[in-house]
Amino acid sequence: KARGGCSRSSGLVNHQILKKSDKVVDSIDIEDISEKAVFCRCWRSKNWPYCDGSHNAHNKDQGDNVGPLIVSNKK
Ligand code: FES
Repeated sequence: KARGGCSRSSGLVNHQILKKSDKVVDSIDIEDISEKAVFCRCWRSKNWPYCDGSHNAHNKDQGDNVGPLIVSNKK
């Protein structure tokens, strides 16, 4: 049934990550990032919340252009 203009059977962003949770929320302490951390934004990573390069296959398959968020710690 459509909710907010988006049906549950199509248009899902998250296909595989913590599907039993009502909401996927991740929290990382900035102090735990030593030099650089690369976070997934395509929701296809097998190493969530970090990028594992799965966005490349997704982009190729879907004609998309998504990529990770890179957080640097200059200290
Ligand atoms: Fe999702 Fe790289 S695997 S952004």
